[in-house]
Formats: sequence, structure tokens, C-alpha cells
Amino acid sequence: MQNTNRGSFGGKLGIILASAGSAVGLGNIWRFPTEVGRNGGAAFILVYLCFVFFLAMPVMVSEFVIGRASKANTVDSYHRLAPGKPWFIVGYLGVLGGFLVLSFYSVVAGWTLHYTIASLLRQLTSGRDYGEFFNNFVSNPWQPIVYVALFLLFTHFIVARGVQAGIERYSKIMMPALLAIILILMTCSLSMPGSREGLRFLLHPDFSKVTASVVLSAMGQAFFSLSVGIGCLATYASYFQRDVPLVSSAFSVCFIDTLVAILSGFIIFPAVFSVSGVEVDAGPGLVFITLPNVFNMAFGDVPVVGYLFSGLFYILLLLAALTSSISMHEIDTAFLHEKFHLSRPHAASVVTAVCLVLGAACSLSFGSWEDVRIFGMGFFELFDFLTAKFIMPLCSIFISIFVGWVLDRKLVRSELTNDNTLHIRAARFFVFLIRWVAPFGMSIIFLNELLS
Ligand code: PFF
Repeated sequence: MQNTNRGSFGGKLGIILASAGSAVGLGNIWRFPTEVGRNGGAAFILVYLCFVFFLAMPVMVSEFVIGRASKANTVDSYHRLAPGKPWFIVGYLGVLGGFLVLSFYSVVAGWTLHYTIASLLRQLTSGRDYGEFFNNFVSNPWQPIVYVALFLLFTHFIVARGVQAGIERYSKIMMPALLAIILILMTCSLSMPGSREGLRFLLHPDFSKVTASVVLSAMGQAFFSLSVGIGCLATYASYFQRDVPLVSSAFSVCFIDTLVAILSGFIIFPAVFSVSGVEVDAGPGLVFITLPNVFNMAFGDVPVVGYLFSGLFYILLLLAALTSSISMHEIDTAFLHEKFHLSRPHAASVVTAVCLVLGAACSLSFGSWEDVRIFGMGFFELFDFLTAKFIMPLCSIFISIFVGWVLDRKLVRSELTNDNTLHIRAARFFVFLIRWVAPFGMSIIFLNELLS
């Protein structure tokens, strides 16, 4: 039975900003530069771009089709579109993925909140040992958990207000602010002495660095960055109106997401290269250890610029984390709200509480629970691995098979062309990518990873 009381987005701009908000997150500003630094710079970026436009974007379009055609949460959407068939399991995997991603994501978002406050209190421009600062903080048994709780409460507050008054309204405020901060920081970073080296690293590909593991990392990064595979975009699309063009909306989201990732590289690498002796392949510590060192060394003469730069940078990271976390939260809130007939605020409270418990476990895996290992991994690492390397690629394969091969072709075409009112050529091209390129391409890479 169709639920006529469901929320919906108000307009196309809101839809693009909310979906791009989901995509633009820590994945762009924290994970992307980390991966670029580790995997050799420009060559990685080129491989990444191919994955974005030929694999991840078709999956995004598929999720949009599933969501809008069914107008239901990620589990019920399969019940409606393929009644009596086991496809709903993909929906449940998405619900599980939503809980896992939001839990470990909130830990990094909590660190970001702490760093935002620390930078505003001038603790990040006071020339201390930032490796020690970071390690002491993340291994503290309770402090990071308080920040996880605070961050989850912000997320909860927005989601509980609903689709239009919460998600859409706040995305419309946060996304333009985020883009404005990126432009300010990039201008500042590019004007630093020695920034040319950073640009070289980003713009000159060295293909000798492209190995199988670089290719896999690029695929994982593309899926994570575009939020595809766990039904997040399908849930958002279930609130789209009939006149929203799905293919061009997906293109806009991919474009904005990629732009932000590359611009983040333009912020971080010129700044890092302008300070000699700082490593670009510092891994996840790049943003939390390397950058505070950069702020200190580069702006030692004019501390006020360092203060503003670091403050703005962590506010940027926090905004990005929040626009994404609301979308992960929404997958599970919509599911509990519709499946168990909980009120929206109640459903949101359950999600927040579960993620707080799981997030605390992830946070403790950097300190007192360091020795608790499952398959050789701590909770944080395990949740990251299970979602980015397993659930997201596996569900993405099933989603593209579902839309490409199982769903009625006429239904898919009418979703892609808005009942034949839009150009058919782009729709045909996407049907081809969804049927042939995405499932086979992803399966080969996924199986290769699994077997190795
Ligand atoms: N795309 C987000 C980022 O780049 O940070 C992460 C994300 C959001 C993953 C939503 C999954 C998701 F459902």
C-alpha cells in the first residue's frame, strides 16, 4: 500500500544540494587526499574519475530509479518492486550498512568537532607535538565518546525534523557555506610559497604507480565518496517528485562531489608541500597530525592567518561530515519509521542510540579496547572494511543487476525519461552502463579483491 503521508523534497535545488551533501563528506576532504597521497597523486585521480563516471554514477542512477519508482524505504522498495522475491535482502544489507557507516563515521566526525573547538581555542597553532596531541585524544577512554555523542545529537536534531524542514533546509544552508569556505581556503593555500610542488603532485600522472591495489582503492573511494550501495540515495530519491530529471541530477551530484574532492586536494597538497619535511603519504593522520604541523610551520610569522586557516578548515570538515551523516541516519530512520510505524522522532532516537553504542565501541578500539580484534581488526577498522570494501560494492553489483535485468524495462525507461518527456539518448546510454558495464566491471574487481 502506498504511503501518501510521506515527506518529500520541495524543489530541484534542494534535491541536488541534499544529495550532493550526502556525497560530499569526510570522504572528500579527509579520505580522498589521504588516498591520493598514498597512491601516487595524479594517476590515482585519473583512475578514480573513470570509476566515478562509468561505475558509480550508473549505480547512483539505479538507486534513484529504485527510490522514486517505489516511494519507500530501502527494504520496502524491493518488496514493492519485486514482491515475493528475495531482493529485499539487499535492502536489509543497506540498513545494516547505514548503522555501521554512521557509527565509525561519527568517530572521525567527533575528532573533527574536537579539532574545530581546539583550533578556535588556538590549541592548533601553539607549536606543540601534534602526533602526541592526536594520540592522547583518540586513546582517551571517554573524551572522544562525548564528541561522538554530540555529533550524533546534531545529526539527530536535523533528521528528526523531517525531510523538508530538516534535511532539505539545513542542506541549503550548509552546502553553500561549505563551497564558500573551500574557495577561501584554496586561494589561501595556492598563494603559499612552494605550493607549485603540490600542484605538480596533483596534476602530473605517474602511471608506474598504478597497481591492482591502487585500482581497488580508487573504486572503493568512488563508491564511498558518492554514497552509493547502501540505499542512502534510494531513500532520498523516494522523496523526489515526478518532474526531477534523474540522470542529470545524478550527473550534477557526481560533478559537485568530484569537484570538492579535487579542490580539497588543492587546499591540502600545496599547503603540505610548502612546508619541507612533511610527508604527503601520512595516511589518516594527514588531516589530524600533518595539517596542524603545516598550520604552525607555514604561518609561524603571521599566526592570525594560521588561526583563521585552521579554524575554517575544521569547520569545513565538520559541515561536510554533517551533511553526509544526516543521509546515513535517514536510511535507518525511514526504515524504522515505515516498517515499525514508529513516529519519526522515535525512529530517529533508536538510530541515534544504536549508533552511539556502536560508535563508542569504534572509538574505544583506539584506546582501551585496542586488543579486542575480530578477524584481526578492531571495531573501527572492521566497520570501515565491512562497509567500504564489502557491503557497498556487493550491494552496488546487485542494485545494477536489479535495475538492469530484473525491473520492467518500460518502468526503468519511464523513470529515466520522466514518462518520455526527456531526451531518450542519455537514458539509453545509462541503461547500457547499468546492464553491462557496471555489474561486470564491479564483479571482476570485487572478486579479485575477495580472492586476494
Ligand atoms: N559520501 C560520504 C563521504 O564522502 O564522506 C560518506 C557516505 C555517506 C557513505 C552516505 C555512505 C552513505 F550512505
